[in-house]
Amino acid sequence: MSPQEQSAPPAVWKSLDGIAYGGDYNPEQWPVSTRLEDLELMKEAGVTFLSVGIFSWGLLEPTEGTYDFGWLDEVLDNLATSGIKVALATATAAPPAWLVRKHPEILPVTADGTVLGPGSRRHYSPSSAVYRRYATGITRALAERYKDHPALALWHVDNELGCHVSEFYGDEDAAAFRAWLERRYGNIEALNASWGTAFWSQHYASFEEILPPGAAPSTLNPGQQLDFQRFSSWSLMDYYRTLLEVLRDVTPGVPATTNLMVSSATKSMDYFDWAKDLDVIANDHYLVAADPERQIELAFSADLTRGVAGGHPWILMEHSTSAVNWQPRNQPKMPGEMLRNSLAHVARGADAVMFFQWRQSFAGSEKFHSAMVPHGGRETRIFREVVGLGAALQKLAPVKGSRVESRVAVVFDYEAWWASEIDSKPSVDVRYLDLLRDFHRSLFLRGVSADFVHPSASLAGYALVLVCTLYNVTDAAAANIASAAREGATILVSYFSGIVDEQDHVRLGGYPGAFRDLLGVSVEEFYPLLAGSTAKLSDGGVGRVWSEHVHAAGAEVVSAFTEYPLEGAPALTRRSVGAGAAWYLATFPDRDGIEALVDRLLDESGVAAVAGADQGVELTRRRNADGTSFVFAINHSRTDATVRVAGTELLSGERFTGMVPAGAVAVVAED
Ligand code: GLA
Repeated sequence: MSPQEQSAPPAVWKSLDGIAYGGDYNPEQWPVSTRLEDLELMKEAGVTFLSVGIFSWGLLEPTEGTYDFGWLDEVLDNLATSGIKVALATATAAPPAWLVRKHPEILPVTADGTVLGPGSRRHYSPSSAVYRRYATGITRALAERYKDHPALALWHVDNELGCHVSEFYGDEDAAAFRAWLERRYGNIEALNASWGTAFWSQHYASFEEILPPGAAPSTLNPGQQLDFQRFSSWSLMDYYRTLLEVLRDVTPGVPATTNLMVSSATKSMDYFDWAKDLDVIANDHYLVAADPERQIELAFSADLTRGVAGGHPWILMEHSTSAVNWQPRNQPKMPGEMLRNSLAHVARGADAVMFFQWRQSFAGSEKFHSAMVPHGGRETRIFREVVGLGAALQKLAPVKGSRVESRVAVVFDYEAWWASEIDSKPSVDVRYLDLLRDFHRSLFLRGVSADFVHPSASLAGYALVLVCTLYNVTDAAAANIASAAREGATILVSYFSGIVDEQDHVRLGGYPGAFRDLLGVSVEEFYPLLAGSTAKLSDGGVGRVWSEHVHAAGAEVVSAFTEYPLEGAPALTRRSVGAGAAWYLATFPDRDGIEALVDRLLDESGVAAVAGADQGVELTRRRNADGTSFVFAINHSRTDATVRVAGTELLSGERFTGMVPAGAVAVVAED
């Protein structure tokens, strides 16, 4: 069982059998005859779950106060008859034209003052009181109409909140920011102290004087910037809660969520914070076709989604069957890649696999985005693979509800991502994700699972904890990490961690203030490396990006910098702490150095790969509360691979031979 905190599974799973399968369904684009054909094709594909009505407001309420629910009644009734469950959307992700015409003040305003107009989607500010009033109106109308509908399993609130625009700078947004600050600080002097406004004459006499951090002659106050990021994430969730209140009022028994965009590219929303208001975590993930290691980025997204879900199974609400339409060059997925992608998400905790969208549009912005039913219809590679995936997922029903097993925690914090990348730092090359993703990559390549864990969440049960560039950390989180070491975990803390507190105030007396005692080191001065240069290390390796003048103060020096002006200064240290150990890494090792370090850390913490396997095989294990376990082996290589696991292979229903063919997937129910 994963050490992630355990609690009751979200209610939505009760109404879905096995691993749920489907996608976004936008039937309003099609005549009734096509919608009837859809039902036949859905049956053939094994579809069980659809998101409906995400962008339907304009047709559901074509003029203010007049509703046309006829087409949606027909669609939902037919889906219910076919046994398909629905995540019904609030339809609020694209305001109708009449609303924009009547109330242009709902439109988003960017930092440079540009008003973003209609004709696309997501053209509203979440702080707009008018928009909230109309959005709760259509939400209530939908909830009242469909509250007892047998197809309704989940509310899909809005869509990808924060997509396209995640920060809003209009007058109403500024007022909401000021109100948020007033609630946070209580009085203006507390804000002045937190933002350090004694510097550069930035003192405020009242909250009324404060603006969002827009265009300015030089760098803006970092406290103001960090708080604006916090506010912006909060305001989207606050808008979500406004719609949720209506849904709870009308349908208290129906769970609700919104689809997140957890990936290496989505920084603006603190999804650990958002998770508190979602009944189940749902994520959308799209591969970057040009990334030769895209399966590793997928694993990063899926693992982080599971972390946000607190280890619970989650919904893959959208991915693509093949090409998207929004990258510069939209390569299709290779044969078998869609199955590998889908089962990789399941391997990392998804209990539902869904796509954007069911049927490929013939008009509109996304007509060249792949779908489950492509332009070519039923007799196509994509539809055959869609049918094959549906059959595969049916065979994986026993996996439903099991948890991904992992003994490695990678500490992850959106606030650290934000704060560490605000301007005026020692080096622009310190990017929050870089070191963290290199460690995750190394673990992926070895078949070792890692959970992403918020710094304040329990670390109990993890043998190895990686803390990468956790620039800002609260006292409580630093104590949480230290206690994991005392209780027996091996902890690794990297450079530029524990430097400031949650107010972005430097912890004085030698870096890294929050972890100095735990690590037994004190850093006197940073020596970030110039672009492209490296630092030689005494173990024969090299460091990138960063070096610094470390003094060992109780820690053992494992390797040192060897060159002027840091010759002899520690680069990697280790200190025994209670039943565990705390390592400190003062540079960004190259890939070989990362591999050597991960070897040592896994060895010391006694963490092994899920199974022995040839290179190129992705491995995870999911385990049920009763101890039954499933090994997922995904062969990303173009040669057959051996995997040492014994049991029944669920996709074939036969005894596992120990071989996974090139490009194939095996799911082994272990003996
Ligand atoms: C997002 C949206 C979908 C669709 C896809 C295309 O995930 O939620 O409506 O636009 O992107 O990739």
